[in-house]
Amino acid sequence: MEQGDNSQETRIPAHVAIIMDGNGRWAKKRGLPRTVGHAQGAKVVEQILEDADDMGIKYLTVYAFSTENWARPATEVKALMNLLRTYMKTSLAKCAKNNVRVRVIGDKSKLDADLQDSIAGLEADTAGNTGIGFQIAINYGGRDEITRAVRKIAAKAAAGEIRPEEITSESISDSLDTAGIPDPDLLIRTCGEQRTSNFLIWQCAYSEFYFTQTAWPDFTKKDLEEAIDAYNHRERRYGGLIR
Ligand code: IPE
Ligand code: IPE
Ligand code: MG
Repeated sequence: MEQGDNSQETRIPAHVAIIMDGNGRWAKKRGLPRTVGHAQGAKVVEQILEDADDMGIKYLTVYAFSTENWARPATEVKALMNLLRTYMKTSLAKCAKNNVRVRVIGDKSKLDADLQDSIAGLEADTAGNTGIGFQIAINYGGRDEITRAVRKIAAKAAAGEIRPEEITSESISDSLDTAGIPDPDLLIRTCGEQRTSNFLIWQCAYSEFYFTQTAWPDFTKKDLEEAIDAYNHRERRYGGLIR
């Protein structure tokens, strides 16, 4: 990794979030079905998780399926769900070996019962692991997550358990699917698009954004290092003044 100033060590972001985009375009360019792009993308996730861990990243959150992705053709949705099914079943051994703690964020209640079961199993079996926290966003939408959180809080208020003035930014964060996980320091989106597509819209209020043309199936450790290098050249001010 390029280090401009030797006196300053590279800061490794504690939490990196990734919008893994471009699987379809990657496949199309090669004359392959979109699903082949998704399959290749799934392999890349496993590699990047290992790389992130090696680099000292503490939390990695990836966008696998959005609340809007149901709008895709049924065959593609099915292929994506099957890939997720396979991942939940095959990754346990790897997670155990690498001490990875898995959490799925998003509205799991809309997923098939067997997939919900394997997610619950993987989460429970890795809950005691102390290594990298790996969040997979499935049927995830930032607005949906906030809506569900507001409903939980409103129910408590209606039951007289909290007063409206007791609702704080922290208590809202604690009611989200990402409760207990620090906000992302760095948000990466692959394949050229420059939008959040409803990903972690509350949590990314002060994240640094990094966009790359690389399609997700081509993304390597080198791309991750480049993103972290760019992050190291950013100045996070949080509304304050330059020191
Ligand atoms: C990202 O790749 C994976 C998902 C959204 C599930 P895309 O499938 O969006 O690929 P493009 O954007 O069509 O190339
Ligand atoms: C965002 O990508 C969702 C995931 C990566 C899972 P999309 O490809 O669905 O986003 P849009 O449609 O380009 O905004
Ligand atoms: Mg896309």
